[in-house]
Amino acid sequence: MSKSDNEGSFAVSTIGLTKDFEAMRAVNNVNLNIARGLFYGFLGPNGAGKSTTIKMLTGLMSPTAGRIEVLGIDFSENPVEVKRQIGVVPENLALFDRLTAFEYLNFVGRMYGLSREEVAKRATELLEFMELTNNPKKLIVDFSHGMKKKTALAAALIHSPRVLFLDEPFEGVDAIAAKTMKDVLQAMIGNGATIFLTSHVLDIVEKLCTDISIINRGTIVAQGSIEQLRAGVFADSDALAQASGKKLTLEEIFIEIVGGGREQPENLLSWLVE
Ligand SMILES: Nc1ncnc2c1ncn2[C@@H]1O[C@H](COP(=O)(O)OP(=O)(O)OP(=O)(O)O)[C@@H](O)[C@H]1O
Ligand SMILES: [Mg+2]
Repeated sequence: MSKSDNEGSFAVSTIGLTKDFEAMRAVNNVNLNIARGLFYGFLGPNGAGKSTTIKMLTGLMSPTAGRIEVLGIDFSENPVEVKRQIGVVPENLALFDRLTAFEYLNFVGRMYGLSREEVAKRATELLEFMELTNNPKKLIVDFSHGMKKKTALAAALIHSPRVLFLDEPFEGVDAIAAKTMKDVLQAMIGNGATIFLTSHVLDIVEKLCTDISIINRGTIVAQGSIEQLRAGVFADSDALAQASGKKLTLEEIFIEIVGGGREQPENLLSWLVE
Protein backbone atom coordinates (compact mmCIF):
# COMPACT_ATOMS: atom_id res chain seq x y z
CA MET A 1 0.00 0.00 0.00
CA SER A 2 1.26 3.45 -0.83
CA LYS A 3 2.45 5.74 1.93
CA SER A 4 0.06 8.42 0.81
CA ASP A 5 -2.87 6.02 0.89
CA ASN A 6 -4.79 7.16 3.97
CA GLU A 7 -6.24 3.97 5.35
CA GLY A 8 -9.78 4.33 6.57
CA SER A 9 -10.63 7.01 4.02
CA PHE A 10 -13.17 6.50 1.28
CA ALA A 11 -12.16 4.93 -2.01
CA VAL A 12 -13.72 7.88 -3.82
CA SER A 13 -15.02 11.03 -2.26
CA THR A 14 -16.22 14.22 -3.90
CA ILE A 15 -17.52 17.49 -2.55
CA GLY A 16 -19.47 19.80 -4.82
CA LEU A 17 -18.09 18.31 -8.01
CA THR A 18 -19.26 20.49 -10.88
CA LYS A 19 -18.52 20.80 -14.60
CA ASP A 20 -19.74 23.52 -16.90
CA PHE A 21 -19.46 23.40 -20.68
CA GLU A 22 -19.89 27.03 -21.65
CA ALA A 23 -23.47 27.88 -20.73
CA MET A 24 -24.37 24.30 -19.89
CA ARG A 25 -23.89 22.65 -16.47
CA ALA A 26 -23.16 18.97 -17.20
CA VAL A 27 -22.37 17.94 -13.62
CA ASN A 28 -23.92 19.85 -10.76
CA ASN A 29 -22.62 19.76 -7.19
CA VAL A 30 -22.09 16.00 -6.98
CA ASN A 31 -21.20 14.60 -3.56
CA LEU A 32 -20.00 11.01 -3.38
CA ASN A 33 -18.65 8.96 -0.49
CA ILE A 34 -17.82 5.51 -1.78
CA ALA A 35 -16.47 3.08 0.79
CA ARG A 36 -13.54 0.87 -0.10
CA GLY A 37 -14.31 -2.54 -1.53
CA LEU A 38 -17.67 -1.57 -3.03
CA PHE A 39 -18.88 -2.49 -6.48
CA TYR A 40 -20.50 0.85 -7.24
CA GLY A 41 -22.91 1.58 -10.06
CA PHE A 42 -23.22 5.10 -11.45
CA LEU A 43 -26.42 5.20 -13.46
CA GLY A 44 -28.34 7.77 -15.41
CA PRO A 45 -30.01 8.37 -18.77
CA ASN A 46 -28.09 9.46 -21.87
CA GLY A 47 -26.48 12.85 -21.38
CA ALA A 48 -26.92 12.78 -17.58
CA GLY A 49 -23.26 13.49 -16.82
CA LYS A 50 -21.83 10.02 -16.10
CA SER A 51 -18.90 10.11 -18.52
CA THR A 52 -18.10 13.70 -17.57
CA THR A 53 -18.00 12.65 -13.90
CA ILE A 54 -15.74 9.66 -14.63
CA LYS A 55 -13.42 11.88 -16.68
CA MET A 56 -13.07 14.26 -13.73
CA LEU A 57 -12.56 11.42 -11.23
CA THR A 58 -9.73 10.02 -13.33
CA GLY A 59 -8.01 13.26 -14.28
CA LEU A 60 -9.03 13.20 -17.95
CA MET A 61 -10.94 16.45 -17.47
CA SER A 62 -10.60 19.13 -14.85
CA PRO A 63 -13.64 20.14 -12.76
CA THR A 64 -15.10 23.63 -12.89
CA ALA A 65 -15.53 23.41 -9.12
CA GLY A 66 -15.38 20.92 -6.28
CA ARG A 67 -12.92 18.54 -4.66
CA ILE A 68 -11.99 14.95 -5.40
CA GLU A 69 -10.23 12.51 -3.12
CA VAL A 70 -9.27 8.99 -4.13
CA LEU A 71 -8.14 6.68 -1.32
CA GLY A 72 -7.82 9.79 0.80
CA ILE A 73 -5.43 11.48 -1.64
CA ASP A 74 -6.48 14.92 -2.86
CA PHE A 75 -6.57 14.76 -6.64
CA SER A 76 -5.56 18.35 -7.30
CA GLU A 77 -2.66 18.16 -4.85
CA ASN A 78 -1.28 14.82 -5.93
CA PRO A 79 -2.62 13.76 -9.33
CA VAL A 80 0.30 11.47 -10.12
CA GLU A 81 -0.15 9.46 -6.94
CA VAL A 82 -3.88 9.12 -7.59
CA LYS A 83 -3.24 7.95 -11.15
CA ARG A 84 -0.82 5.33 -9.85
CA GLN A 85 -3.60 3.82 -7.75
CA ILE A 86 -6.40 3.82 -10.31
CA GLY A 87 -7.28 2.12 -13.56
CA VAL A 88 -9.71 3.48 -16.12
CA VAL A 89 -11.56 2.30 -19.19
CA PRO A 90 -12.88 5.57 -20.60
CA GLU A 91 -15.84 6.03 -22.90
CA ASN A 92 -13.69 6.58 -26.00
CA LEU A 93 -11.08 3.88 -25.73
CA ALA A 94 -7.79 5.64 -26.30
CA LEU A 95 -5.65 2.74 -27.49
CA PHE A 96 -2.54 2.84 -29.64
CA ASP A 97 -3.83 1.43 -32.89
CA ARG A 98 -0.53 0.46 -34.47
CA LEU A 99 0.52 -1.92 -31.68
CA THR A 100 -0.48 -5.51 -30.98
CA ALA A 101 -2.40 -6.09 -27.74
CA PHE A 102 0.71 -7.60 -26.16
CA GLU A 103 2.86 -4.63 -27.17
CA TYR A 104 0.25 -2.23 -25.90
CA LEU A 105 -0.04 -3.93 -22.51
CA ASN A 106 3.74 -3.98 -22.24
CA PHE A 107 3.89 -0.28 -23.01
CA VAL A 108 1.24 0.56 -20.41
CA GLY A 109 2.80 -1.70 -17.76
CA ARG A 110 6.24 -0.16 -18.30
CA MET A 111 4.68 3.31 -17.96
CA TYR A 112 3.53 2.27 -14.50
CA GLY A 113 7.08 1.27 -13.64
CA LEU A 114 6.68 -2.51 -13.67
CA SER A 115 9.78 -4.52 -14.57
CA ARG A 116 10.10 -5.95 -18.07
CA GLU A 117 9.67 -9.52 -16.77
CA GLU A 118 6.70 -8.73 -14.57
CA VAL A 119 4.91 -6.82 -17.27
CA ALA A 120 5.41 -9.59 -19.84
CA LYS A 121 4.05 -12.15 -17.39
CA ARG A 122 0.99 -10.04 -16.54
CA ALA A 123 0.31 -9.14 -20.18
CA THR A 124 0.45 -12.80 -21.22
CA GLU A 125 -1.92 -13.85 -18.43
CA LEU A 126 -4.36 -11.02 -19.03
CA LEU A 127 -4.53 -11.69 -22.77
CA GLU A 128 -5.05 -15.39 -22.16
CA PHE A 129 -7.78 -14.70 -19.65
CA MET A 130 -9.51 -12.26 -22.02
CA GLU A 131 -9.16 -14.79 -24.88
CA LEU A 132 -7.19 -12.37 -27.02
CA THR A 133 -4.37 -14.70 -27.97
CA ASN A 134 -5.75 -16.22 -31.20
CA ASN A 135 -3.86 -13.96 -33.52
CA PRO A 136 -0.99 -12.38 -31.60
CA LYS A 137 0.31 -10.40 -34.59
CA LYS A 138 -2.96 -8.59 -35.24
CA LEU A 139 -2.78 -4.84 -34.67
CA ILE A 140 -5.32 -3.16 -32.41
CA VAL A 141 -6.55 -1.10 -35.37
CA ASP A 142 -7.85 -4.35 -36.89
CA PHE A 143 -9.58 -5.53 -33.71
CA SER A 144 -13.35 -5.79 -33.47
CA HIS A 145 -15.12 -3.45 -31.06
CA GLY A 146 -15.43 -6.10 -28.33
CA MET A 147 -11.75 -7.07 -28.70
CA LYS A 148 -10.79 -3.41 -28.21
CA LYS A 149 -12.96 -3.25 -25.11
CA LYS A 150 -11.28 -6.31 -23.64
CA THR A 151 -7.84 -4.91 -24.49
CA ALA A 152 -8.73 -1.63 -22.78
CA LEU A 153 -9.83 -3.51 -19.66
CA ALA A 154 -6.65 -5.60 -19.66
CA ALA A 155 -4.58 -2.41 -19.94
CA ALA A 156 -6.50 -0.84 -17.06
CA LEU A 157 -5.70 -3.86 -14.86
CA ILE A 158 -2.01 -4.38 -15.60
CA HIS A 159 -0.75 -2.37 -12.62
CA SER A 160 -3.27 -3.96 -10.27
CA PRO A 161 -5.21 -0.77 -9.45
CA ARG A 162 -6.92 -0.29 -6.09
CA VAL A 163 -9.79 1.64 -7.68
CA LEU A 164 -11.11 0.87 -11.15
CA PHE A 165 -13.31 3.22 -13.17
CA LEU A 166 -15.24 1.71 -16.06
CA ASP A 167 -17.41 3.69 -18.47
CA GLU A 168 -19.87 1.33 -20.17
CA PRO A 169 -17.57 -1.72 -20.07
CA PHE A 170 -20.24 -4.12 -21.38
CA GLU A 171 -21.36 -2.01 -24.30
CA GLY A 172 -20.94 -4.07 -27.48
CA VAL A 173 -19.28 -7.11 -25.91
CA ASP A 174 -20.71 -10.60 -26.42
CA ALA A 175 -22.18 -12.66 -23.60
CA ILE A 176 -19.07 -14.83 -23.23
CA ALA A 177 -16.75 -11.82 -23.07
CA ALA A 178 -19.11 -10.11 -20.63
CA LYS A 179 -18.97 -13.21 -18.41
CA THR A 180 -15.16 -13.16 -18.53
CA MET A 181 -15.15 -9.48 -17.64
CA LYS A 182 -17.59 -9.99 -14.77
CA ASP A 183 -15.41 -12.80 -13.40
CA VAL A 184 -12.30 -10.59 -13.44
CA LEU A 185 -14.13 -7.72 -11.79
CA GLN A 186 -15.58 -9.91 -9.07
CA ALA A 187 -12.15 -11.39 -8.38
CA MET A 188 -10.82 -7.84 -7.96
CA ILE A 189 -13.59 -7.01 -5.50
CA GLY A 190 -12.64 -10.21 -3.65
CA ASN A 191 -9.15 -8.77 -3.34
CA GLY A 192 -10.39 -5.55 -1.79
CA ALA A 193 -10.39 -3.29 -4.85
CA THR A 194 -13.19 -0.80 -5.46
CA ILE A 195 -15.00 -0.61 -8.79
CA PHE A 196 -16.94 2.40 -10.07
CA LEU A 197 -18.92 1.57 -13.15
CA THR A 198 -21.42 3.16 -15.49
CA SER A 199 -23.66 0.91 -17.51
CA HIS A 200 -27.03 0.92 -19.20
CA VAL A 201 -27.19 -2.87 -18.85
CA LEU A 202 -29.18 -2.75 -15.66
CA ASP A 203 -29.56 -6.47 -15.13
CA ILE A 204 -25.76 -6.79 -15.04
CA VAL A 205 -25.52 -3.80 -12.69
CA GLU A 206 -28.16 -5.38 -10.45
CA LYS A 207 -26.13 -8.59 -10.21
CA LEU A 208 -22.75 -6.95 -9.66
CA CYS A 209 -23.24 -3.69 -7.82
CA THR A 210 -24.29 -3.35 -4.20
CA ASP A 211 -24.46 0.44 -4.11
CA ILE A 212 -25.66 2.95 -6.63
CA SER A 213 -25.97 6.62 -7.46
CA ILE A 214 -28.43 7.79 -10.07
CA ILE A 215 -27.63 11.04 -11.83
CA ASN A 216 -30.13 12.93 -13.96
CA ARG A 217 -29.36 16.19 -15.79
CA GLY A 218 -26.13 16.55 -13.85
CA THR A 219 -27.66 16.17 -10.41
CA ILE A 220 -27.69 13.12 -8.16
CA VAL A 221 -31.30 12.08 -7.67
CA ALA A 222 -30.86 8.86 -5.67
CA GLN A 223 -28.07 7.26 -3.72
CA GLY A 224 -27.76 4.13 -1.60
CA SER A 225 -27.89 0.35 -1.71
CA ILE A 226 -30.26 -1.21 -4.24
CA GLU A 227 -32.47 -2.21 -1.28
CA GLN A 228 -32.58 1.38 -0.05
CA LEU A 229 -33.52 2.66 -3.50
CA ARG A 230 -36.21 0.00 -3.78
CA ALA A 231 -37.64 1.00 -0.40
CA GLY A 232 -37.56 4.67 -1.42
CA VAL A 233 -39.50 4.01 -4.61
CA PHE A 234 -42.14 2.07 -2.68
CA ALA A 235 -42.45 4.87 -0.14
CA ASP A 236 -42.91 7.44 -2.92
CA SER A 237 -45.46 5.62 -4.98
CA ASP A 238 -48.88 4.56 -3.67
CA ALA A 239 -49.50 2.48 -6.77
CA LEU A 240 -46.30 0.55 -6.30
CA ALA A 241 -46.87 0.18 -2.59
CA GLN A 242 -50.19 -1.47 -3.38
CA ALA A 243 -48.45 -4.01 -5.55
CA SER A 244 -47.01 -5.38 -2.33
CA GLY A 245 -44.92 -8.49 -2.44
CA LYS A 246 -43.52 -7.57 -5.85
CA LYS A 247 -39.79 -7.09 -5.83
CA LEU A 248 -38.92 -4.32 -8.26
CA THR A 249 -36.00 -4.93 -10.58
CA LEU A 250 -33.29 -2.30 -10.82
CA GLU A 251 -34.64 -1.39 -14.24
CA GLU A 252 -38.08 -0.70 -12.75
CA ILE A 253 -36.51 1.30 -9.93
CA PHE A 254 -34.45 3.29 -12.44
CA ILE A 255 -37.43 4.08 -14.66
CA GLU A 256 -39.51 5.05 -11.64
CA ILE A 257 -36.82 7.44 -10.37
CA VAL A 258 -35.63 8.91 -13.66
CA GLY A 259 -38.53 8.48 -16.06
CA GLY A 260 -41.38 8.76 -13.58
CA GLY A 261 -44.25 10.93 -14.73
CA ARG A 262 -43.02 11.23 -18.31
CA GLU A 263 -46.05 11.01 -20.52
CA GLN A 264 -45.93 10.71 -24.28
CA PRO A 265 -48.35 12.81 -26.34
CA GLU A 266 -51.02 10.52 -27.68
CA ASN A 267 -50.33 10.73 -31.39
CA LEU A 268 -46.56 10.71 -31.27
CA LEU A 269 -45.14 8.41 -33.99
CA SER A 270 -48.63 7.35 -35.01
CA TRP A 271 -47.49 7.49 -38.67
CA LEU A 272 -44.94 4.78 -37.86
CA VAL A 273 -47.47 2.22 -36.72
CA GLU A 274 -50.35 3.02 -39.07
N1 LIG B 1 -16.69 18.20 -24.32
C1 LIG B 1 -17.95 18.60 -24.21
N2 LIG B 1 -18.34 19.82 -24.64
C2 LIG B 1 -19.61 20.27 -24.51
N3 LIG B 1 -20.58 19.54 -23.94
C3 LIG B 1 -20.27 18.30 -23.49
C4 LIG B 1 -18.93 17.78 -23.60
N4 LIG B 1 -18.91 16.53 -23.06
C5 LIG B 1 -20.17 16.29 -22.63
N5 LIG B 1 -20.97 17.34 -22.88
C6 LIG B 1 -22.39 17.45 -22.53
O1 LIG B 1 -22.53 17.18 -21.15
C7 LIG B 1 -23.71 16.42 -20.91
C8 LIG B 1 -23.33 15.15 -20.17
O2 LIG B 1 -22.62 14.28 -21.07
P1 LIG B 1 -22.00 12.90 -20.62
O3 LIG B 1 -21.18 12.40 -21.75
O4 LIG B 1 -21.33 13.07 -19.31
O5 LIG B 1 -23.33 12.02 -20.43
P2 LIG B 1 -23.48 10.48 -20.06
O6 LIG B 1 -24.29 10.41 -18.80
O7 LIG B 1 -22.17 9.82 -20.07
O8 LIG B 1 -24.41 9.96 -21.26
P3 LIG B 1 -24.40 8.55 -22.07
O9 LIG B 1 -25.25 7.60 -21.26
O10 LIG B 1 -25.09 8.90 -23.35
O11 LIG B 1 -22.99 8.10 -22.24
C9 LIG B 1 -24.37 16.21 -22.27
O12 LIG B 1 -25.37 17.19 -22.44
C10 LIG B 1 -23.24 16.43 -23.26
O13 LIG B 1 -23.70 16.92 -24.48
MG1 LIG C 1 -21.33 8.35 -21.28
